Formats: sequence, C-alpha cells, structure tokens
Amino acid sequence: MKRLDNNLNNIQDVALITSLADVNTDLITMNIGKFIGKGTYRTVYEYNMNPKLVIKIEPDNTSCNLMEYTLWDEIQGLTGQLSWVKDWFAPVHYCSPNGKILIMERTIQSYHKTRPNLVPNFFTDVKSDNFGWLDKKFVCHDYGFIWRFIKYEKKWQKIEW
Ligand SMILES: Nc1ncnc2c1ncn2[C@@H]1O[C@H](COP(=O)(O)OP(=O)(O)O)[C@@H](O)[C@H]1O
Ligand SMILES: [Mg+2]
Repeated sequence: MKRLDNNLNNIQDVALITSLADVNTDLITMNIGKFIGKGTYRTVYEYNMNPKLVIKIEPDNTSCNLMEYTLWDEIQGLTGQLSWVKDWFAPVHYCSPNGKILIMERTIQSYHKTRPNLVPNFFTDVKSDNFGWLDKKFVCHDYGFIWRFIKYEKKWQKIEW
C-alpha cells in the first residue's frame, strides 16, 4: 500500500488536463463505478478498475482519507501479541496525494454470518454501517476518526541530555 505521489512533471500538466472537460469526465467515469454508500464525510463507489475495491471520495478538508491511510500504514508494524489488531481493519490500497481519493478493499454485508456483539474499544464510530465482512473476517471500513488507539499512560522514560 502506498500513498501515490504526484508524478506529473509540472503544474501546467495538471492545469491542461483539468481544463479539458472530456478528459476529466473520462478520468472520473473510468474510475468511479456504482454508488455504494454515503457517510458524513465520504461518498463511496465501486472502483471500476477492480470491483473488489471501493473508491472513497472526500470533498471537504476533513482528512478522513488521510487518517485511514496513515492508520492502516501504521498498524502494518504490529506483530506478535498485537498482530490481531490488523484483522479488524479493511485494508487500504492507495491514497491520492491530496487525500481526496482513497482505494480500499470492499466489504460485504452478509446477514447469513453471525456478527460479533463486541468490537475493539479503539474504534470510535461503532455503528453497523461502518463494518462489513472480508471473507470470514468482520472488519471496520470507516476508521477515519479514531481517538482511542494511543493509550496515554503515566509511564515514564529517561530524557537524553
Ligand atoms: N470498504 C468498504 N466496502 C464497502 N462499503 C463501504 C466501504 N467503505 C465505506 N462503505 C460504505 O460507504 C458508506 C460511507 O463510507 P464511510 O467510510 O463510512 O464514510 P464516512 O467517513 O463519511 O462515514 C459506509 O457507511 C458503507 O455503507
Ligand atoms: Mg461512516
């Protein structure tokens, strides 16, 4: 997973592409597929290049996509006793340079599977809309706002003078 860089050579390239309405429309329609759902911050569509993925568009500067990208990247380092944490997050595949567009694995709503009654305490927004199935795993696909991940403990370390 990576956050995509802007690989265009200069800002004029961007200006040229965005000024061409038909090119713009093609760029949008080649990526954005069927509407899936809408939350307070993002609108989510099937990703046309791969229907197993979704594309999440965030119009305002609310930074949820960037937060999801950062958190997913961060938890990749969790191993050993903490590796179970990763199983609760829908994987992020890409985040655009400005964070407006995020590509994530598509979860499925299945009413045949028994949903757990408990989810980890570090999730902030625990309504059922924000969770779904990835095969046998029940995962959160909306972790753009999370505030319980870091545990602030009264635990001290020596400063290096
Ligand atoms: N990875 C995903 N797979 C399937 N559906 C999703 C996924 N992410 C979001 N959705 C759908 O889109 C809706 C809005 O996305 P969400 O991430 O919750 O946005 P917001 O941060 O605005 O609440 C969700 O409630 C859900 O129905
Ligand atoms: Mg949501």
